[in-house]
Amino acid sequence: MLEAIHLHKRYHQGDIDVVAVDHFSFRFPPGLTAVVGPSGSGKTTLLNLLAGFDVPTEGEVRLDGTVLSRLSEDARSEVRLKHMGFVFQQWNLVPTLTAWENVAFPMMLAGIGQRERQARAAALLESVGLEKRAHHLPNKLSGGEQQRVAIARSLALNPPILFADEPTGNLDSVAGAKVVELLTAQAREGRTVILVTHDLELARKAERVLYLRDGRLIQVEETRPNPEIPGRAS
Ligand SMILES: Nc1ncnc2c1ncn2[C@@H]1O[C@H](COP(=O)(O)OP(=O)(O)OP(=O)(O)O)[C@@H](O)[C@H]1O
Ligand SMILES: [Mg+2]
Repeated sequence: MLEAIHLHKRYHQGDIDVVAVDHFSFRFPPGLTAVVGPSGSGKTTLLNLLAGFDVPTEGEVRLDGTVLSRLSEDARSEVRLKHMGFVFQQWNLVPTLTAWENVAFPMMLAGIGQRERQARAAALLESVGLEKRAHHLPNKLSGGEQQRVAIARSLALNPPILFADEPTGNLDSVAGAKVVELLTAQAREGRTVILVTHDLELARKAERVLYLRDGRLIQVEETRPNPEIPGRAS
């Protein structure tokens, strides 16, 4: 279970203090949670804190009871590798590696042998409908295809938590809907998926929508109960 407790992040910009995340508390249940809010409302900062890329000024992030900010940077990297997958708006894939190699890359970092890498990468590419594109370089793929490869890669080590920051930002509505469909499918398998998006229509496909303004959580909308997902009550 991923939990934010009174999470607060202040940046100093010259003489000015910017509060990017303002005492944000929420327990993220398994399933798809969307985070929406205007530009500058703190969505990316929140994701960076939840993933332990950044440490809060006050408050804490707990993952299964472990306080991330009390871990060393190396230990946090380890937690990320084992527990978290990431899909970003752009620059997702290593441009010099094929789709297949991109998906296998995290498995190599984790010391998984070649045969298993091969089998798992192939299965993951098939699960996002790209088995025929396995040997393409990213620049030979459409934006939507690249994002599907990024999703396949984010699942390489079977993480319980998936973060996606504007993964549909560069896509048309059809490709964007497909990406959200894949994220929804992951949520249905019991993963905790956190999706940042500007697109309220896409956000409403999540089970709950968190509204951020000026770093504050101003509203939690439960869009539709999903009895298929166990343990979603928070
Ligand atoms: N490293 C930093 N140093 C100083 N201020 C920062 C830093 N990172 C973010 N901020 C500020 O924190 C606030 C929140 O930024 P953040 O990137 O989290 O917003 P966002 O909701 O992701 O916006 P967008 O929708 O445009 O991506 C902004 O006012 C931003 O200027
Ligand atoms: Mg952002």
